[in-house]
Amino acid sequence: MSTLKKEVQSRKTFAIISHPDAGKTTLTEQLLLFGGAIRAAGTVKGKKSGKFATSDWMEIEKQRGISVTSSVMQFDYDGYRVNILDTPGHQDFSEDTYRTLMAVDSAVMIIDAAKGIEAQTLKLFKVCKMRGIPIFTFMNKLDRQGKAPLELLAELEEVMGIETYPMNWPIGMGKEFLGIYDRHHKRIEQFRVEEDQRFIPLNQDGEIEGDHSLKQSGLYDQTLEEIELLNEAGNDFSSERIAAGDLTPVFFGSALTNFGVQTFLETYLKYAPSPQPRKTTTGEIDPENEEFSGFVFKIQANMNPAHRDRIAFVRVCSGKFERGMSVTLSRTGKSMKLSQSTSFLAEERATVEEAVSGDIVGLYDTGTYQIGDTIVGGKDKIQYERLPQFTPELFMKVTAKNVMKQKSFHKGVQQLVQEGAIQLFKTYRTEDYILGAVGQLQFEVFEHRMKNEYNAEVLMEPMGNKVARWVEDQTIDDRYSSSRSMLVKDRYDQLVFLYENEFALRWFQDKNPDIKLSNPMDLS
Ligand code: G4P
Repeated sequence: MSTLKKEVQSRKTFAIISHPDAGKTTLTEQLLLFGGAIRAAGTVKGKKSGKFATSDWMEIEKQRGISVTSSVMQFDYDGYRVNILDTPGHQDFSEDTYRTLMAVDSAVMIIDAAKGIEAQTLKLFKVCKMRGIPIFTFMNKLDRQGKAPLELLAELEEVMGIETYPMNWPIGMGKEFLGIYDRHHKRIEQFRVEEDQRFIPLNQDGEIEGDHSLKQSGLYDQTLEEIELLNEAGNDFSSERIAAGDLTPVFFGSALTNFGVQTFLETYLKYAPSPQPRKTTTGEIDPENEEFSGFVFKIQANMNPAHRDRIAFVRVCSGKFERGMSVTLSRTGKSMKLSQSTSFLAEERATVEEAVSGDIVGLYDTGTYQIGDTIVGGKDKIQYERLPQFTPELFMKVTAKNVMKQKSFHKGVQQLVQEGAIQLFKTYRTEDYILGAVGQLQFEVFEHRMKNEYNAEVLMEPMGNKVARWVEDQTIDDRYSSSRSMLVKDRYDQLVFLYENEFALRWFQDKNPDIKLSNPMDLS
């Protein structure tokens, strides 16, 4: 096997999708601990008081210069190189969050077993499903009383429309949580039991051989009954269906007590795909292709006023990235040398020397890149497929604060829109600017960058949440427009209705059944 092929096959690149508070940070910490990317012996694991652990944690972050809230985390485990891409939660939620999912090869969905599926998880899940990427589910917080496991599975299947295969099954829950019945490894892993006695092997019938105290518990018999039900009525395990994103393996565990996490990690690494070929406008590119290529999926502006730089995140798709190499930006044909400007956003923020498909490289950007840009090492100016535009949900009217600064205002808006930081709409007649975003942070970044990079202060007037629908019939005019269903144009002059809410949308549809509406990215 060539070295490049071997390296590519060792890559596992994923994002954790979850609703805030489901345990994403806790699980990430545990995974980084396993990978030795952080060393927090006992502090995170034995987390009794939240405050103590947090300050401790921050100290570690400072010392090692890494942050669990940083955008890309990398660690090595069992011969694999793992890249975790962060998908920020409520406050930082933005289009970048969705776009990050375009750069991963699989996703880990973490669900709070007491809450079940929550809104944000569902949205992120839909983006993964759209891409057909494999999804691994971790049902968290089993050390607390939650919903019944069968109910959780039914919810996954019904609400998300994905088939499930429980890799393990909880024996009790909350105060009565005894452990997990590991169907995949044919063993029981006991909760809060010393390492050397924690695992109990199961016999051919899937039961504990001989005497064991666990057998005294009624929960053991109940588990056996449920396992029998799963074996008879549940889905079959299929690595092909997992790889196609049609079946999600489900793991029960508790991130906080580090229970079930290692088994999860090892099984995940075994079944999660390595980087796959990616589509360009002219065909697929193999990750083992020797010629370097990659695409920009996120641009992060530095919010610190002292630094104007921003970072373009590039997902490597083929070949080998080497520091100092010359690349061409396919969109403009411009060549550039990626020398000093290259930094690797991972452990210790070290400078990256080499990276292969699956890895993420951070490039210092002074306005060169746009979201979706392809960079190539060779002569072939390939272009990776356009990243989808996500339907905005929050809207804001925007004008220049200083009328004398109209020119810089328009320039700034155009550039930030082109870069992919925010979406632009215009009122139907007067063509006043309306900004659209999926998260509040996008407006804040916009305002900040307009002032700092374009010297254009802005006035923003919130319009709140709206339901956006594109109109196919371009002969519609503003006779159909009202305060509850406002007709606007997008940046390509396509007509769009901004409805006050779902109710206003349905009312409009009832009244105007002939007007065809569409939502290119239905994530609602
Ligand atoms: P997030 O990144 O998805 O937002 O979630 P995070 O890991 O911060 O976890 C949210 C809360 O849930 C934290 O409690 C965390 O300790 C707790 N948690 C995570 N995993 C488990 C688990 O397996 N079992 C239980 N019982 N709790 C879990 P917090 O009180 O908000 O924070 P802290 O003060 O404990 O850090």
